Amino acid sequence: MQTTLTSRLGLRHPVIQAPMNWATDARLVAAVSAAGGLGTLGPNAGARTPAASPEEAGERLRAQIRAVRALTDQPFAVNIPIGRGPMRAFSDRSVEVVRDERVPVVIVATGSPSVYTAPLKSVGIFVIHAIAEVRHARKAVAEGVDAVVAEGFDGGGHSGFAELPSMPLTRQVARAVEVPVIAAGGIVDGCGVVMAAAAGAQAVYMGTRFMAVQESPVHPRVKEAIVEADDTGTLSWGRTTEVARTLANGFARGFREREASGMSPQELHAYIADYRSAANRRVGGLLLGDLDQGEIYLGVGAGLIEDVPGVAELIERIMADACSIATRLGAAFEDGADRQAAAVP
Ligand SMILES: Cc1cc2nc3c(=O)[nH]c(=O)nc-3n(C[C@H](O)[C@H](O)[C@H](O)COP(=O)(O)O)c2cc1C
Repeated sequence: MQTTLTSRLGLRHPVIQAPMNWATDARLVAAVSAAGGLGTLGPNAGARTPAASPEEAGERLRAQIRAVRALTDQPFAVNIPIGRGPMRAFSDRSVEVVRDERVPVVIVATGSPSVYTAPLKSVGIFVIHAIAEVRHARKAVAEGVDAVVAEGFDGGGHSGFAELPSMPLTRQVARAVEVPVIAAGGIVDGCGVVMAAAAGAQAVYMGTRFMAVQESPVHPRVKEAIVEADDTGTLSWGRTTEVARTLANGFARGFREREASGMSPQELHAYIADYRSAANRRVGGLLLGDLDQGEIYLGVGAGLIEDVPGVAELIERIMADACSIATRLGAAFEDGADRQAAAVP
C-alpha cells in the first residue's frame, strides 16, 4: 500500500513503529526501517537509567542515531517530547543533536507545535506532530508541520484529556486537515491497517505491537503478559493528571483507587512523582519485568496479540492480511452492488 506519505518518506509499507521511550533502541528501530516501515527512537532509547544532564542525554541520542545508521541505510525517525520545566533543556538538546545528525524525520509530542517546527524544518527535517484533538491538529498544520499523528485513548502510553478513541479521532482529523494523517491507538494487525486507511489515514503508528517482537528490548515477562492479555488487560488512569493507559496490574489499580478515594490532582502528581523517583521504578516495569508494580504502558490492542514474531515477518504478515481483507471487502461490496442492481427493475 503506497500513500503520499510513504512516497515522501521512501517507505515500502505504511507502518510506523511508534516512539516508546525505554522500550526502543537502535536494534528495534533499524529492524523496522530495514523491513520497509519507519522505526522511531524514543527518548532514553537504548538506556537503562535516566541521563544525568541534557549533554549526556544528547550524546546518548547521537550514539543511538549512529547505531541505527550502522545497521540500515533506510529512513528512521527520532521522537522529541517537548520537556516541561527543567526537562526543557533535555528536549532542546535533542533538537540540536537531530539537526547536527541530519535525522530525516522527527516526531514531536506533548507540547505546542510552535516550539520546534521551525528549527527542525529549517534544516530539511520532515516534522510529524502527535495530537489527540482536531483543534490541535489544525494548530500544528498552521505552524507548518508535514504530517500529524492522531493518538487515540485506546493506545498505550499517554493520550489527550479528551479521551477520544483512535478511529473517530482519525476520521475527524483527516476531514479537518490537508496534511497526511497517521492513525495511532489499538492498531496491531491487518484489520487495523484497513480500518485506519478507511478512516483516511496514510499510515499506522503502532507501539504495543512492536513491544511483542523478538527485537524489542522489553523484558520477556512483559512480552508474555502482552500475549496473555485479553480485552480488559489494560487500564487507563490519571483522568485529572496525565491520562495514561498501562497493563491492568497492581500499580494501575492502586492509582485508580487513589483517584477514587478523592485525592486531589496535586496529591496524585506528588504520588506519581514519588513513585517514579524510587530506585528502578522508571525502568522496572518495561525493562526489568515487574509485572505487578511496574508502569507498563500498553494499548487495548494487546488483547489481539498472540505471538512474538520477528519484525520483518510481522510487517509482511500485517500487510498481507490488510491486502486480503481489503480485497475481500471490495468483492463483498461489489457483489452486493451487483445483487442490488439485479434486484432493481
Ligand atoms: C511502552 C510505551 C512507551 C511510550 N512512550 C512514548 C514516548 O516516549 N513518546 C511518545 O510520544 N509516545 C509514547 N508512547 C505512545 C506511542 O508513541 C503511541 O502513541 C501508542 O503506542 C499507540 O498505541 P498502541 O500502543 O495501541 O499501538 C508510548 C507507548 C508505549 C506503549
